[in-house]
Amino acid sequence: MLKIISVVGARPNFMKVAPLHKAFKSFKFKVSSSKFETEGQSNATINHQLTTITHLICHTGQHYDEKMSKVFFDELELPKPDFYLGVGSGSHAEQTAKVMIEFEKILLQEKPDLVIVVGDVNSTIACSLAAVKLNIKVAHVEAGLRSFDKEMPEEINRVLTDTIADFLFVTEKSGLENLKNAGVSGEKVFFVGNCMIDSLIYYLPKINKSKILETYRLLPNAYLLITLHRPSNVDDEQSLKEVVAMLNHLSEKRKIVFPVHPRTRANIKAYSLESLLNENIILTDPIGYLDFISLVKNCELVITDSGGIQEESTYLGVQCLTLRDNTERPVTVEIGTNHLIGTDFKKAKLAALEILSGKKKIGKIPELWDGKAAERIVKVLVERLGMMG
Ligand code: UD1
Repeated sequence: MLKIISVVGARPNFMKVAPLHKAFKSFKFKVSSSKFETEGQSNATINHQLTTITHLICHTGQHYDEKMSKVFFDELELPKPDFYLGVGSGSHAEQTAKVMIEFEKILLQEKPDLVIVVGDVNSTIACSLAAVKLNIKVAHVEAGLRSFDKEMPEEINRVLTDTIADFLFVTEKSGLENLKNAGVSGEKVFFVGNCMIDSLIYYLPKINKSKILETYRLLPNAYLLITLHRPSNVDDEQSLKEVVAMLNHLSEKRKIVFPVHPRTRANIKAYSLESLLNENIILTDPIGYLDFISLVKNCELVITDSGGIQEESTYLGVQCLTLRDNTERPVTVEIGTNHLIGTDFKKAKLAALEILSGKKKIGKIPELWDGKAAERIVKVLVERLGMMG
């Protein structure tokens, strides 16, 4: 038996683990012929006989609000987590340390064969570190991405996780190059595509039924969507004020929907900015997955500092203005619909106006973003862990 624990902690993790959970569940192993298959894929021979795979989910509780966490479990059909660590918020050191302490207890009790971590949040590095120290293998999904900006906590999490992981699953070709340059052995690296896009493709029929546009009285292709949560954009008062000025200007042209992350909400309040926002800007609480992707799919332009939204908008062919100086997801700029615009909000406003006046990028969908990344990952893992057994 193979026992695998996947870790989720923060909002962007849930949609990456959901397709893995489905792929593990639908994985069929034929003991008699020593062959295995995942649905829709060809067989491959392995040396070791596996009977079952137990896939467990551990939620660290890094995000804990109903709207940042539970709604995603419900919508993505994830089972209730097998383990909930309840670590909550804190400084980086506190949060990372708490996850390590609590996760180590689970590892000692469960003795899994493998821990799967996704993305680049504090829970990702904390659980990887706890596992490797106990000689438990680690698989990193979304490995190899690099912004080369060490001021981003996520960059530290990515570099460290990739250094200690045993299996590195890559979403875009830049990741292969980055891992090669970092001296990671090619044997550990697998270009498999994008699990987050697996979720998007799988849930598209449900996303298309969302009523969120009616809720906010929005017309398709006639509103802007904005999300902002990076400390560099929202923690500094001056920077947040400039964001508000930019949004006010753009709201004279189009309605704007702004689902507000808790960190951003707290700062808007602390700097008394809410009353400065025009009424054409709709502020909402964080929005569930299906409704949110419906908002992305139907907007004229998304303005964001998120990592994942750059990819989701590229898949959907929607214009995306990224308010950052760098991106760890260059394929979205090189062949997708992402415009990397920097953090000068006056320039960003001009770039947005240009896009609204018709200067749109025609994008392509990156290689292997085809809804089958999770199946590929499961196939690799069973093959390799089977052989190791
Ligand atoms: C984290 C990730 C970031 C990811 C983002 C998605 C790290 C270093 N950062 O950033 O990569 O893009 O999640 O949202 O792991 N809060 C709540 N309720 C919650 C969660 C957070 O109120 O459910 C508030 C707390 O006051 C907390 C703050 O938001 O201090 C920030 O949360 P935290 O988990 O530290 O980081 P994020 O900014 O969400």
